[in-house]
Amino acid sequence: MADNGGTDLDALLGKVRGAASPLRAVLREIHTKYKDLDEGAVANYIPELARANPKWFGIAVVTVDGTTIEIGDSKELFTIQSLSKPFVWGMALEDNGRDHVETKIGVEPTGDAFNSIVLDEATNRPFNPMVNAGAIAAADLVKGKDISERVNRMIEMFRKYMGRTPVIDTAVYTSERTTGHRNRAIAHMMLNFGMVTERVPDSLDFYFQQCSVLIHCADLALMGATLANDGVNPVTGERALDSKYVRDLLSVMYTCGMYDFSGEWSYRVGLPAKSGVGGGIVAVVPGRMGIATFSPLLDARGNSARGIKACQELAERFGLHVFESAAQRKEVVV
Ligand code: DON
Repeated sequence: MADNGGTDLDALLGKVRGAASPLRAVLREIHTKYKDLDEGAVANYIPELARANPKWFGIAVVTVDGTTIEIGDSKELFTIQSLSKPFVWGMALEDNGRDHVETKIGVEPTGDAFNSIVLDEATNRPFNPMVNAGAIAAADLVKGKDISERVNRMIEMFRKYMGRTPVIDTAVYTSERTTGHRNRAIAHMMLNFGMVTERVPDSLDFYFQQCSVLIHCADLALMGATLANDGVNPVTGERALDSKYVRDLLSVMYTCGMYDFSGEWSYRVGLPAKSGVGGGIVAVVPGRMGIATFSPLLDARGNSARGIKACQELAERFGLHVFESAAQRKEVVV
């Protein structure tokens, strides 16, 4: 154990910065181990996403004291896609309160694919805000006098998490708006059951724009660290989310964030997480750090194959599983 009573990793990160960081050495080992893993395929159901380089692979960690450790393609820009969903749901919670949001969106894992055209038969709600149906309903709950104000509020929300103002990849947005027929079917099914409002065409457009926000792996790790830091960006000190809703995002990321892999993820990695078809994964170690990986090769469930391996190895190396007992936590090998 570290001399300050904290964990060895905390001591490790607290004392060492920059290139000499032993954690960077661990990230480099993991990056080297999985950079040539050739499992999965780049998403192509949104045509523009097929342009991604399958070799891209980045890893980044940001701690709650604002230290960033990154390796590989950690500054390569990619579209956030479903990684946006917990953060926009956080907006919906802040705009409407938990009770109202729960009348429109459940918090139950489905075990189904992210784009399933299914609602909870008992309530007619989308099961949770991490699947496309729940995310579209969350988008519909974001307030603003028109789509422009709502989108500007969304960009401002991401700025608070990222510490910089992101832009929207208009080619991906146009590609998704043009081919998003399945999402339109989901949206209008929810309109039929009153889970979204008549403004759902605008909300779908909002959703396509939220999914097309450009980020990089280091941004994503900082977004995760902001959730680890009770909703406060550990680099800028700016609050991105009301602390009372951090619990909501982390618990639903834990149970639903990896879709029909969420059960295995919570068993093997054991961290609140979210994936996106752009190739990103963010994992949150509450009170300690955000972990992000980026590699566009996706498995059959739409999760980054290299990212899953990297996150699992990091969690195992440092005993990061939320239910890991102190007695089971492994020493950090320097
Ligand atoms: O709506 C879609 O299908 C995409 N914009 C987002 C899906 C996604 O990222 C699923 N995550 N693995």
